[in-house]
Amino acid sequence: MATDSKPLLELEGVRLTFGKEEVLKGVDLHIAPRERLIVLGQSGGGKSTLLRLILGILKPSGGSVRFKGLEVGRMGRRRLNKMRQKIGMVFQNSALVSSLNVRDNLALPLEELTDKPRNEIDDLIMHKLEMVGMQDARDKMPAELSGGMRKRIALARGIIMDPELILYDEPSAGLDPVTSTLIDQLIISLSEKIGATSIVVTHEMDSAFRIATRMAMLYKGRIIAEDKPEAFRHHSNPVVAQFISGNTEGPLNEDLPENRT
Ligand SMILES: Nc1ncnc2c1ncn2[C@@H]1O[C@H](COP(=O)(O)OP(=O)(O)OP(=O)(O)O)[C@@H](O)[C@H]1O
Ligand SMILES: [Mg+2]
Repeated sequence: MATDSKPLLELEGVRLTFGKEEVLKGVDLHIAPRERLIVLGQSGGGKSTLLRLILGILKPSGGSVRFKGLEVGRMGRRRLNKMRQKIGMVFQNSALVSSLNVRDNLALPLEELTDKPRNEIDDLIMHKLEMVGMQDARDKMPAELSGGMRKRIALARGIIMDPELILYDEPSAGLDPVTSTLIDQLIISLSEKIGATSIVVTHEMDSAFRIATRMAMLYKGRIIAEDKPEAFRHHSNPVVAQFISGNTEGPLNEDLPENRT
């Protein structure tokens, strides 16, 4: 069990500036294997940015992001590709390639990052499509799918390599309640069956509490609270309490544009 207590991912003092705006001002976060960490935070607060830093798509302006002890920002192309075989990402906007059908979208990461033969790739694709209940969509183009179907295909693509770490950016936003619950169950079963570690960004509180083994709140560029889900339900930090309850009165209102001075 000693290895299990070692963090899979370590973010320390992570800063990121876009132009003049410092979106992340020193994010500290450790993620242990098999955790399902929910990241909460306001729209525009930097959650998607944080996931992009973990994937190495963005480089931090300061601080460090380490995956299995290795500094992501300093990896060369080969190392990055190797790491990306172990990290799956389900993008907020699904990010499917519109000119490719479902099969070819799912094949992309396998073709880019592995040298698996075509028949093996096709087997993997069918298996993952079955997992998300989309086996009939294999030959469809993204434009022929509903938003929820696209999300499920994005999910299948995110898990296509059986990753150790899966990053989900709003996986159930805009889905009907039943599909949303199915996605939540899939996230949980993936972590239990293949031992994947998950980081899930979501605004859907029911989903968040269903999925989480731990929660973290990103606010003003920092993690201001991290705790067990039970603790988040009645949190002493007023920002967290207001965010969870959706109350219109509280410290978060000061951040609304009309209240800025
Ligand atoms: N590539 C980029 N170039 C410039 N600014 C960016 C870029 N990506 C994000 N930003 C800015 O960084 C801030 C954080 O964006 P981000 O997408 O991470 O927010 P978020 O927390 O995911 O929000 P949401 O909940 O709405 O998805 C925003 O102000 C956004 O405009
Ligand atoms: Mg986002």
